[in-house]
Amino acid sequence: MEKYDHYSLASRHTFGVEAYADYWIDYDSPEDLAALIPILPTGMPVFHMGGGSNLLFMGDYKGVLLHSRIKTLEVVSHAEDVMFLRVGAGWNWDEFVDYCVTHHLYGLENLSLIPGEVGAAAVQNIGAYGEEVGRHIVEVEVMELKTGQRKTISQKDCDYSYRSSRFKTDWKGMYAVLYVTFQLHKHFVPNLTYAPIREFAETVDDRELDAALIREKIIQIRQEKLPDPRLLGNAGSFFKNPVISEKEYQDLQARYAHQQIPAYRTDNGVKIPAAWLIEKCGWKGRKLGRAGVYRKQALVLVNLGGATADEIVALSDRICQDVKSRFGIIIQPEVIFV
Ligand code: EPU
Repeated sequence: MEKYDHYSLASRHTFGVEAYADYWIDYDSPEDLAALIPILPTGMPVFHMGGGSNLLFMGDYKGVLLHSRIKTLEVVSHAEDVMFLRVGAGWNWDEFVDYCVTHHLYGLENLSLIPGEVGAAAVQNIGAYGEEVGRHIVEVEVMELKTGQRKTISQKDCDYSYRSSRFKTDWKGMYAVLYVTFQLHKHFVPNLTYAPIREFAETVDDRELDAALIREKIIQIRQEKLPDPRLLGNAGSFFKNPVISEKEYQDLQARYAHQQIPAYRTDNGVKIPAAWLIEKCGWKGRKLGRAGVYRKQALVLVNLGGATADEIVALSDRICQDVKSRFGIIIQPEVIFV
């Protein structure tokens, strides 16, 4: 375990906004965390960090930031077609995906190169290219931050939905994730729901299409479309894609009869790419102060160098207002403000 006072967050989050935490603690095991909980300063805010790739510090953090370095990985059980792996919350997400692909365990390959860590992936229900991590989670082991009590929560009770789970709603801030158990397939069946991946697969001989190739393609797509936070501070998609009713979608499409509005049907309604709405409002590639909209993907806000959190929020607010007044659609940040 390591503890730091007045700790610079520069290397711990990807937006590159300058901020300090009163205290930062890296712990290595559930026992470490259990020993820590009773001695945390009373009345001080506590926030549990992951890889810092989906948040924006609004200023210095006047409290304690906890971070897991639990990096174990064990095979819990086997069945004919599936393997169950119990993974420490502190594993880097993409290293874990790489481990799975290398060991011929399938299901997570479409989630390649997503920044962050295993624990946060289970909180956030990370998703991309037609895949969501919640579909592969069996259970999540947590520790209640108030009491130090351990619990195992089944996948069903996590209530996974698009970019959300109960860890982000009614259980917000209550738990530290210790371990996540995944169910992975031993036989590869490609997930080709995302059109560019399907089109790529059609160019490849069936015998050669494997998870390593899909992973490689996804890494290539992400590197082409998304900024590298080491070069340009960002937190990936800044906004969630809004879901509207079928009726709202039909009305919108009628107003824009001259063009096809991109849309995906979901169980809850019609999902519209926020990037399309933002681009149509003329924001793609534009800047406000030292914050900007990435020129290759309008969903990503970037720190153009020395931006403050206020500048990024001002840009986000302007975009939300413009999308609302032009399309009547409310878009909401996916990024967590701390
Ligand atoms: N589009 C635009 N302008 C742009 C970018 C996209 O009009 O600048 C439109 C196009 O019509 C395009 C559609 O939006 O076909 C969808 O674009 P894309 O496939 O890039 O996906 P997205 O909906 O913008 C979501 C995730 C991404 C994930 C991709 C791929 C959210 C909030 N974002 O973006 O996640 O990589 O799908 O599955 O759901 C992240 O969370 O950080 C992230 C990058």
